[in-house]
Amino acid sequence: MIFLMVLLGRTDVDSWTKDEDCCAWSGVTCEGVTGHVTGLDLSSVGLQGILHSNSSLFSLGHLEMLDLSSNDFMGSSISSKFGGFVSMTYLYLMFSNFTGRIPSEISHLSKLVELFLSSGKTTIDTLSMKRIAQNLTTLEVLYLDFVDMSSVVPADAFLNLFSSLTSLSLTLCNLHGKFPETIFHLPNLESLNLLQNTNLTGSTPKSNWSSPLKSLALSSTKISIDLHILTSNLKSLEILRLQECNFVGSHLELSGNLTQLMGLDLSGNSFVGLIPWSLLNLERLILLDLSNNMLVGELPEIQSNSTNSFSSLHDSSKKQLVGSIPVGLNMLNLDNNSLNGTIPSWVYSLPSLEYLWLSHNQFSGNIKAVFQSLSLSYLDISSNNLSGVVEFEKFRKLRSLTLLDISHNQLMVSFQNFSNYTMPKLDFLHMSSCHITQFPYFLRTSPQLTSLDLSDNQIQGNVPTWLLDVGIDSLSYCILSHNFLTGTIEQFMWKNIAVLDLRSNLLAGKLPIPSPSTYFYSMSNNHLTGPLASTLCNLTSLKVIDLSTNSLSGKIPQCIGTFSRHLSVLDLHMNQFLGKIPSTFPKGNILRNLNLRGNRLEGALPQSLINCRKMEVLDLGDNKINDTFPNWLESLLLLQVLILRSNRLYGPIGNPKTRFPFQKLRIMDLSHNQFGGPLPIKYFKNLLAMTILQDEELKYMGDDYYQDNVIVVMKDLYVELVKLQTMFTTIDFSNNAFRGEIPRVIGELKSLKGLNFSSNKLTGLMR
Ligand SMILES: *[C@@H]1O[C@H](CO)[C@@H](O)[C@H](O)[C@H]1NC(C)=O
Ligand SMILES: *[C@@H]1O[C@H](CO)[C@@H](O)[C@H](O)[C@H]1NC(C)=O
Ligand SMILES: *[C@@H]1O[C@H](CO)[C@@H](O)[C@H](O)[C@H]1NC(C)=O
Ligand SMILES: *[C@@H]1O[C@H](CO)[C@@H](O)[C@H](O)[C@H]1NC(C)=O
Ligand SMILES: *[C@@H]1O[C@H](CO)[C@@H](O)[C@H](O)[C@H]1NC(C)=O
Ligand SMILES: *[C@@H]1O[C@H](CO)[C@@H](O)[C@H](O)[C@H]1NC(C)=O
Ligand SMILES: *[C@@H]1O[C@H](CO)[C@@H](O)[C@H](O)[C@H]1NC(C)=O
Ligand SMILES: *[C@@H]1O[C@H](CO)[C@@H](O)[C@H](O)[C@H]1NC(C)=O
Ligand SMILES: *[C@@H]1O[C@H](CO)[C@@H](O)[C@H](O)[C@H]1NC(C)=O
Ligand SMILES: *[C@@H]1O[C@H](CO)[C@@H](O)[C@H](O)[C@H]1NC(C)=O
Ligand SMILES: *[C@@H]1O[C@H](CO)[C@@H](O)[C@H](O)[C@H]1NC(C)=O
Ligand SMILES: *[C@@H]1O[C@H](CO)[C@@H](O)[C@H](O)[C@H]1NC(C)=O
Repeated sequence: MIFLMVLLGRTDVDSWTKDEDCCAWSGVTCEGVTGHVTGLDLSSVGLQGILHSNSSLFSLGHLEMLDLSSNDFMGSSISSKFGGFVSMTYLYLMFSNFTGRIPSEISHLSKLVELFLSSGKTTIDTLSMKRIAQNLTTLEVLYLDFVDMSSVVPADAFLNLFSSLTSLSLTLCNLHGKFPETIFHLPNLESLNLLQNTNLTGSTPKSNWSSPLKSLALSSTKISIDLHILTSNLKSLEILRLQECNFVGSHLELSGNLTQLMGLDLSGNSFVGLIPWSLLNLERLILLDLSNNMLVGELPEIQSNSTNSFSSLHDSSKKQLVGSIPVGLNMLNLDNNSLNGTIPSWVYSLPSLEYLWLSHNQFSGNIKAVFQSLSLSYLDISSNNLSGVVEFEKFRKLRSLTLLDISHNQLMVSFQNFSNYTMPKLDFLHMSSCHITQFPYFLRTSPQLTSLDLSDNQIQGNVPTWLLDVGIDSLSYCILSHNFLTGTIEQFMWKNIAVLDLRSNLLAGKLPIPSPSTYFYSMSNNHLTGPLASTLCNLTSLKVIDLSTNSLSGKIPQCIGTFSRHLSVLDLHMNQFLGKIPSTFPKGNILRNLNLRGNRLEGALPQSLINCRKMEVLDLGDNKINDTFPNWLESLLLLQVLILRSNRLYGPIGNPKTRFPFQKLRIMDLSHNQFGGPLPIKYFKNLLAMTILQDEELKYMGDDYYQDNVIVVMKDLYVELVKLQTMFTTIDFSNNAFRGEIPRVIGELKSLKGLNFSSNKLTGLMR
């Protein structure tokens, strides 16, 4: 027991004192006659320290049960001495901060019945796995979740798993290659979990399934699955998880033999067609997730049958009985399909329903019945065609409501003015496009608010002070864009805000600076004035800042180039900034879009722009920049858009200095300057991007960018540019002083759609 004394940082095990008989200690079991310690249950007791091979633990040779799970062995390796417990039947070492290789000596524990080694920092190789599979003939339960098995060949390693096995769990093990079909035939297997081994292949059997299987989880694997055969064979199935299993374009072919099914997850598979409601045993269902597919049709309705009116559902198209109302349903997720019709009121009356996700479908009708849904915690019915007036007060009946998203429907939400009620649990409220005219006053008592979206409404007037005080420590996402907000915001109080979007309002005054946690900040399209405070440069987490289309003035602070290592988009276009472009873009910056168009910037182009190796869009048009052509930008390999129009740029363009100058450029606008000399033939020859139609690139950064960031609402920031991109590939050299002939090479730029050489001193015909 000495090892425990050493390891126990805190003595959570109260009954342990040195003098007592250790068999009386809590968690310790001894054999009656001999007094040998046979069981040691030390799970979650706060053990902390290294477990060395010389630990006295390994002298407890009679141990049959050892549970060290959920402690912190601080990266200790799993000692090969564990292989010495010859009597061990139950061994639990998961989530205890062990690292390194799982020793092959574990396979000496030939009496093991249960083995739990799940851990994120351990690895196992084919040989050790194979030995475990071959030698542990009485093993029933094997959990190796998160163990790195990237070097394991599944076909070898799992070949001889014993028929005693009832439960095998291998979540996120980096398994790849073919999973042996024999596992599916194991006669006693009740639970098989291979979740998220994204490169694991193989196929489910066509026959001879292990019929006692109750739980099968193959989500995010590449195992090919015949769903019909699977559901016909596995009559005991209670939980089936096949999320993202690549059923693209196929129908949901279930068999009616799933009488025991309680949980079904078939999300993210692009299934098409109708939901076969009648094949699901609705009566027992607790969880149904069919989200992210392409399913169509209406939800079944209560049968208007006087003899049996409130328990049976019928399919509205086929007029056929589909079964009983799923009274035990706790979670229904049908997000992102093409379901239509009304949301039947039985859905809202389900007594156990906590999670209801129906967004991104084509449901129509009103949502009056939603207020019956007293058990709901999470309700997302956004992006449908729902309509009607919603008296918001009625939601207060939903005492457990935590998340509410009713955005993007045709709903008209109304509030009673300053009505005195609270919804203390609600911390996520999204009501974009809901015809709202005032801020929801009840929010003033929601100190835990984390996410608020009231964009695209008709809210007028100042942002009330009480709103700025809501969620001071918790609010991370706040979208109030596209309203009619006026007045000045002195300061944002939210300490942990990440996304802050107030664009397209009527806000005036100076730019308020949010907390340094902000990573997306847009105030574009307002009436802001005055200079930028240098405290802007405290925003060290910023990725995107958009202050375009305001009346901001003064110099752009020099620190703008350096303040955030994460800055990807800096958009200050259409303001009244003066002076020079900051020259402080450091090496290694990740700026993708710099837009300073439509200001009063002067002087030369800063050489430090060359450090912007990730630059895709550089728009400095409509300023007073006085310089020669920046040939040196030709080495920015990702530059797609270069706009220098309407400046005071002069001189010849000259010749390229590099082998593939401007190789990705698709928009080059040098118009309205004082460039002279001949047209730059050598550059034209090398505008490779323009000669090859690169359709995949037309997607442009818009989609990718926002996917990276999972912030869908920001999409329209780029819409203008994306449109420009897909419609034109342009060269505009008009209104300069170019001389000489128009070169033939222009004709080779096949994808060139807009070309303007007008108002120069050129001769020759275009071919
Ligand atoms: C056990 O081994 C470690 C390192 O190998 C050593 O530091 C420690 O003193 C040893 N403890 C005992 C009790 O022998
Ligand atoms: C795990 O062990 C490492 C040392 O290897 C230590 O830094 C870490 O704090 C430990 N605890 C957890 C919970 O990771
Ligand atoms: C298999 O188990 C036996 C004890 O039953 C043991 O002696 C032997 O070393 C084990 N073999 C392997 C390869 O682990
Ligand atoms: C899966 O395979 C692809 C291609 O071989 C590889 O890029 C990817 O990293 C693999 N994923 C995992 C989780 O091993
Ligand atoms: C299925 O099992 C039967 C009898 O156990 C056996 O004859 C048959 O070969 C098996 N089929 C497959 C495909 O394994
Ligand atoms: C359901 O199981 C029975 C045998 O129990 C079988 O005859 C029938 O074909 C199965 N139904 C389907 C749709 O597979
Ligand atoms: C909808 O589901 C498809 C897969 O079927 C997925 O690609 C897409 O991103 C999902 N859209 C949303 C808004 O979740
Ligand atoms: C009404 O319900 C009863 C009992 O469930 C059933 O026998 C009958 O067929 C149903 N009638 C209609 C019109 O569906
Ligand atoms: C629902 O969509 C189906 C086609 O998928 C169509 O036949 C049906 O009329 C639609 N129902 C409603 C109420 O729009
Ligand atoms: C709101 O109600 C509480 C208790 O019912 C009351 O104390 C408070 O004065 C009311 N506030 C307003 C503004 O009506
Ligand atoms: C901003 O940074 C300045 C120093 O550059 C510091 O004095 C000030 O306290 C910071 N303000 C905030 C709000 O973090
Ligand atoms: C550009 O700058 C030079 C000096 O660097 C100056 O001589 C010239 O007048 C400027 N041109 C314009 C149009 O401002």
